Amino acid sequence: MKLWSGMLSGDLDKFAEEFNSSIKIDQRLVFDDIKGSIAHVKMLRKTAILEKNEADQIIKGLEVIKQKLLDGSLKVDLTSEDVHTFVESALIDEIGELGKKMHTARSRNDQVTTDLKLNLRDESKEILKLLKKYINVLCKKAKENKDTIMPGYTHLQAAQPVTFAHHLMAYSMMGLRDLERLEDYKKRLNFSPLGACALAGTTYPIDREFTVKELGFDSLMQNSMDAVSDRDYILELQSVLSIIGIHLSRLSEELIIWSSQPYHFVKIDDKFSTGSSIMPQKKNPDMAEIIRSKSARLIGNMNQSFVMMKGLPLAYSKDMQEDKKSIFDSVDAIKMALQVMAGQIETLTVNKEKMLKACKDGFLNATDVADYLVNKGLSFRDAHHISARLVKYGIENNKGLDEIELGIYKNESELFEEDIYDEIDIIKCVNERKSLGGPAKSEVERQIKFVQEKIR
Ligand code: ARG
Repeated sequence: MKLWSGMLSGDLDKFAEEFNSSIKIDQRLVFDDIKGSIAHVKMLRKTAILEKNEADQIIKGLEVIKQKLLDGSLKVDLTSEDVHTFVESALIDEIGELGKKMHTARSRNDQVTTDLKLNLRDESKEILKLLKKYINVLCKKAKENKDTIMPGYTHLQAAQPVTFAHHLMAYSMMGLRDLERLEDYKKRLNFSPLGACALAGTTYPIDREFTVKELGFDSLMQNSMDAVSDRDYILELQSVLSIIGIHLSRLSEELIIWSSQPYHFVKIDDKFSTGSSIMPQKKNPDMAEIIRSKSARLIGNMNQSFVMMKGLPLAYSKDMQEDKKSIFDSVDAIKMALQVMAGQIETLTVNKEKMLKACKDGFLNATDVADYLVNKGLSFRDAHHISARLVKYGIENNKGLDEIELGIYKNESELFEEDIYDEIDIIKCVNERKSLGGPAKSEVERQIKFVQEKIR
């Protein structure tokens, strides 16, 4: 029998019944549902809406159910309509008719969003921890690579030399913003909808502040219609997780490029690589690729949540039942992706020689040739043209800028002296870029300290 079957005749159509059921997805909320129910019944006891001994028996019953679920002697009944129905039926099985009093002054509408908020509050704490671990791994790897010179790219064309540490620290800065967004999100999540009932509150003398404290909410939602129909916290979390996903996806893309031939800048550890079933020489960066595709899924989930909500009139509509599958999927995806990415970075082998060679081959010190002339009084525009002609000469004669003879330099400008070779030394080029946020070793050290202090 359905909880709501009082005025409807007969059974639901077989397909409608299955279509309507959400238990396979929302069973994940079972412990949140029990927690919320215990707080609710304590409130009913405090306000004398239920007699003390009735409330005590219900609370005890709920605790027994929790215990039985934990030790496996009770399983979630997947033929139930949803998790709330299951818990209520299990309670009635456990303590008898009295169990039917639990739902006094409550509706599944305020119940489901309370459960979901409790669940996502815990999940976001977990994600926060994983995010910090991942950022810490980036900092550790950066510390090992403060002197690892590599090409920095724009348009994926070699641009100016940076260090691998500098590059990794760029991702750790994205991570810091992600952390901040996740922490900030909790400020708006942590308001209790419980007591809004179906949509219009109740005539019972409930005490909403009591359940706020019991469940660790910061405060309560002030309007009962808003309380049951708000899913902003889902949309916000989906957005925050999508942004994290995009950051991980961009880093994945770099790992895929860096580990490909002819780059060979890094070697992804065998623990995070797979082979080909046909080509024996292949080592594939599958984990990075899966992270890249998980981010597509996160964006898809985010999109689904937004579109689901955009046309819904107040207050609750059953459409909202579809909020769970996608947010749970996003939560699971990001938790896995953060752990796999942290592992990949931690075990990454860096090929310093290859990176340095790519800097030399790419004329990455061409800007520094121009800067040299600017320091001697030439305009940057003229200096730029001179440097470009020297690069052209280098390409035609298969020479790096540090290999071109001084005579050739002097043909272009009398301002060139022997010290040009010092000025365009790639390592010097990097370490002279001491401007705040730049790749110089001293600067990157400051960045690492900055980030590590933030995640402490
Ligand atoms: N399974 C439902 C959901 O997830 C629970 C709320 C049902 N409320 C209702 N009025 N039918 O949204």
